[in-house]
Amino acid sequence: MATKALIIPAAGSGSRMRKEVPKPFLTLRGQTILERTLSVFMPLGSLRQVIVATSGEFAAGARDIMEAVLPDDVAGEAVIGGAERQHSIRNALERTADVDLVLVHDAVRPFVKLAHVEACCRAASETGAALLGIPAKDTMKRVDDRHIVRETPRRSSMWQAQTPQVFRKSLLVKAYERAAQDRFTGTDDASLVERLGEAVKVVEGDRMNMKLTYPLDLQMAELIIDNIQN
Ligand code: CTP
Ligand code: MG
Repeated sequence: MATKALIIPAAGSGSRMRKEVPKPFLTLRGQTILERTLSVFMPLGSLRQVIVATSGEFAAGARDIMEAVLPDDVAGEAVIGGAERQHSIRNALERTADVDLVLVHDAVRPFVKLAHVEACCRAASETGAALLGIPAKDTMKRVDDRHIVRETPRRSSMWQAQTPQVFRKSLLVKAYERAAQDRFTGTDDASLVERLGEAVKVVEGDRMNMKLTYPLDLQMAELIIDNIQN
C-alpha cells in the first residue's frame, strides 16, 4: 500500500471565529478540534508521519496532542506556519519523509470520514492528485470587482473543494516549486497542481466535512457530536 505523510495546517489566527485561542486548539465537548481531527486519520493504512503547522506559541500544544493520539509507528512533528496557509504547507512539505502520498487536511475539519479519506487516497494513487468535494447546492455567480455578474456556470459543473487533498509527493513538491518561482498564491493545494496542467480528480465526500470557520459552525459541531457521531 502507498506510504503516506499527513500535513495538518493549524497555524491560522481564526479571525472569523473571533476567539482568544486559534480554532484547532478550541475544545469541543472535552476534546480539542485538532485532537478530534487527528484521531480520524490514525487507522489509515501505511501512515508514516504527521506534520502539524502551528504558530510558535502553539507548537508545544500540538506536540502534546500528537503524543496522546499518534501510535508508536507514526512519527509526529510540529513546524512553524507562515503568514498564508500556502506558506504553512510549504514549511511542512519540506519536512516530509520519503513517502508515496502526501495528504493535506485542515485542522478544522474534524468530521471527515475515514472511508472518504481512503477513497481520496485511492484516486490520488491513480491520477496523482485528488481532493474531496461536494456538489454546489447554490447556483454560483462569477462577478467582477463591481459585483456585476459575468457568468453563471452550470450548477452541475460546480463543486465545493474540501480537504483532504492528496498528491503523489513528487507532484506536490514540483507544484510548490513552480508556485514559488511564479509567485502564485492559491486558496488550496490542488490549484497549484492544476496550473501544471496535471489532472486533479474530485472525489465526492459529504456535507459533514465542513470547515469550522464562524461561531455558528461551533454550535453545529456540538450538535453533530451530541446527536450524530455517537
Ligand atoms: N492555516 C494555516 N496557516 C495560515 C492560515 C491558515 O495553517 N497562515 C490553517 C488554519 O489553521 C486552518 C486551515 O488552514 O486549520 C484553514 O484555514 P481557515 O479556516 O481560513 O483558518 P484561519 O485562517 O485560522 O481563519 P480565518 O481565515 O478566519 O482567519
Ligand atoms: Mg484563513
